[in-house]
Amino acid sequence: MIRLGIIGSGTGSNMWAIHQAITSGQLDAQIVTVLSDQPRSGILEKARSADLPHAVIDCAPFKQKFSPEAQLRTVQLLQDADVDLICLAGFMRIVGHPLLDAFPKRILNIHPSLLPAYPGLAAWEQAISDGAEKSGCTVHYVDSGIDTGGIILQKEVALRPNDTAETLHARIQAAEHIAYPEAIALVASHL
Ligand code: GRF
Repeated sequence: MIRLGIIGSGTGSNMWAIHQAITSGQLDAQIVTVLSDQPRSGILEKARSADLPHAVIDCAPFKQKFSPEAQLRTVQLLQDADVDLICLAGFMRIVGHPLLDAFPKRILNIHPSLLPAYPGLAAWEQAISDGAEKSGCTVHYVDSGIDTGGIILQKEVALRPNDTAETLHARIQAAEHIAYPEAIALVASHL
């Protein structure tokens, strides 16, 4: 059974979707650690509520930067948990070589657009202001670029004429919650 480490900074809805896919028997995996750089984040609250092992990544003194030291602390936490695969789910720091080199081809991310379209922040707003007909979500491998790694799986979401950033983001997130467990199963089947 594949051992997952999940890392996020925010609400943790994708972590929760993965957890539910596991508890419902849809995904044969185990969440062995949930890590966050934000001690009061929803993702850690959800991990606690489900009794999942969790820890805070100490990124001090930096508010945004993911220092090499903090990355090495993260590597240690992930190795201690003996993870097979790492899922970034709303992690707001840029992962660099210390972490990438420790887990080559083992780190996934979910992004709220059909990459390579709309990389970076607030991708759903980019889709709306661009007048796109469709957007969606992408699960991809993490490399040293921003949202540039190899694509594993995508799900399309059609834009509606009256969409706002909020309505589109909500539909994209619903698609993410289906896409991430599917992508993990796909990757696991090749490990
Ligand atoms: C998701 O929309 C994901 O695409 C982006 O960050 C968000 C995380 O949401 N990378 P959540 O914390 O899983 O609810």
